[in-house]
Amino acid sequence: MNPVAPARLGRTLGDGAVRSAAAGAAPGVLESARLEALAGFYAANLTLRPRFTKGSRWARRVLAGPGHEAWLLAWLPGQGTDLHDHGGVARPAAGAVAVVSGRLTEYTVEPGDFPGLRRTALEAGGIATVDDRTVHAMRNDSDEPAVSLHVYSPGLEAMRTYLLDETGLAPAKILRAGADW
Ligand SMILES: [Fe+2]
Repeated sequence: MNPVAPARLGRTLGDGAVRSAAAGAAPGVLESARLEALAGFYAANLTLRPRFTKGSRWARRVLAGPGHEAWLLAWLPGQGTDLHDHGGVARPAAGAVAVVSGRLTEYTVEPGDFPGLRRTALEAGGIATVDDRTVHAMRNDSDEPAVSLHVYSPGLEAMRTYLLDETGLAPAKILRAGADW
């Protein structure tokens, strides 16, 4: 395999570990530690070279395995997502994001009577996990391109976007895989 970037992600698994994880997995949501390990392994063993597109971030599903799937994303400076969850109308997904190169910023909604945003910087080599109820956004706030590898379990069929203002968090629209990204 030809990695897109050097294997700087600290947490990786051998082939046997991944095959074992896939073979034994029942349909359902994988635990966050497994998602994190899979994201690190796939990120370190990429065969598809990402593209950068001016219109919006570039995204391709690169793998569909038992109980999970992996997406490769490429972000030019300033590109990002709206606030979103990973369920849309059904089948919420948990996920893990491994930054392959560059830097990304994650904005996570902290629920409560007065929801706010928590900002987390994600550097190359870092992996963040997202549970199946998190509402967050990701953005390339840096001045360099960034690439990230995302693993979702059981898979990402749809996302609901949200608006956040002084009145709280309000659902906005449903985005569907294959149609909207
Ligand atoms: Fe997300």
